[in-house]
Amino acid sequence: MSNPSLLILPGDGIGPEVMAEVRKVIDWFGAKRGIVFDVEEDLVGGAAYDAHGTPLTDETMAKAQSVDAVLLGAVGGPKYDSLDFSVKPERGLLRLRKEMDLYANLRPAQCFDALADFSSLKPEIVAGLDIMIVRELTSGIYFGEPRGIQTLPDGSRVGINTQRYTTEEIRRVARSAFELARRRNNRVCSMEKANVMESGILWREEVQWVHDNEYPDVELSHMYADAGAMQLVRWPKQFDVIVTDNLFGDILSDCAAMLTGSLGMLPSASLGAPMANGRPKALYEPVHGSAPDIAGQGKANPCACILSFAMALRYSFDLGEEATRLEKAVQNVLDDGVRTADLMQKEGGTPASTSQMGDAIVAALDASL
Ligand code: NAD
Ligand code: IPM
Ligand code: MN
Repeated sequence: MSNPSLLILPGDGIGPEVMAEVRKVIDWFGAKRGIVFDVEEDLVGGAAYDAHGTPLTDETMAKAQSVDAVLLGAVGGPKYDSLDFSVKPERGLLRLRKEMDLYANLRPAQCFDALADFSSLKPEIVAGLDIMIVRELTSGIYFGEPRGIQTLPDGSRVGINTQRYTTEEIRRVARSAFELARRRNNRVCSMEKANVMESGILWREEVQWVHDNEYPDVELSHMYADAGAMQLVRWPKQFDVIVTDNLFGDILSDCAAMLTGSLGMLPSASLGAPMANGRPKALYEPVHGSAPDIAGQGKANPCACILSFAMALRYSFDLGEEATRLEKAVQNVLDDGVRTADLMQKEGGTPASTSQMGDAIVAALDASL
């Protein structure tokens, strides 16, 4: 049997810096656990624009479609701010998500004990937190038509985006959320704004339909997304799985990131329908962006990207135990007080660069044998 295949797209800014640390982890699994991946690396985002004039070439898109899993660092940066919208770095990422049909974006927010003090909330509010946000990723206002900027007869301009969801788009992401809940604490909270948006009314009805017809054993609640944002910072441990649309999910997951201490800790998995081998099409990426303010300084926290690889082990390669081994290695390193700059606002701890953090995680993996 051939080795499982990975396409690595480091991207821009801190993307290549954190991905270099993931490569150390991948090499470790090959050398020490006999889990060898066929790894190919390619360009995405601004890096691809610089080389090819497009944030994602058709060749790279085809490779992404053919591998077992894609790992992505981050895209974007001020250098590309003035580019035409159609070739902005972010369009490369959005094309990957859309063409691979990665409709379920899993964004876990877990607070490691060692970091309970680092959240902007009180430690007792976040200690032991373990929630899963499931963000719809291929529809809604990100992709709805009509869209664009138009000039009106009086010369003024209007910017248009359309929030649009079909029954099936809602049902399939709802199923992902209910499936996850069954393997966790069996609770789903669905968030929309059914009080002001028709798409929110449909969202609520369809999530309820999937519940009543297919997952009556899972506890389902509904919340308006603005109230959900408030509840997320008031008492986040009330949630198990949250399912929500593309835009609300984008915002709520950044908000949830601060519950864990740093955006540099949050991984994600973007999953589509099963391929012929029964595994989902998948792209794994940290929730954070290219962090232009710290790029090139060895300050980036690689944990989010490394934990995204752990999600790949679990969801794409059926290696749940190895995923747990990697997550424990990260936990042990944090327990030992190793801290990248984003985690240095408190007294104590051993300051670590991006690469020292990667080395410490590899050493903790060694210690796990
Ligand atoms: P960002 O996530 O890049 O940065 C927000 C803040 O968090 C910054 O202060 C940054 O230094 C810090 N931060 C982020 N990741 C960190 C890490 N691993 N370690 C330590 N600190 C970290 O968001 P932004 O500044 O709004 O966006 C910058 C660029 O990234 C934009 O072009 C945006 O479009 C893009 N972006 C890309 C993705 C992605 O590729 N998935 C996600 C979000 C933003
Ligand atoms: C994310 C990012 C992206 C999004 C951008 C970079 C396209 O913010 O992955 O959360 O808005 O989905
Ligand atoms: Mn975002």
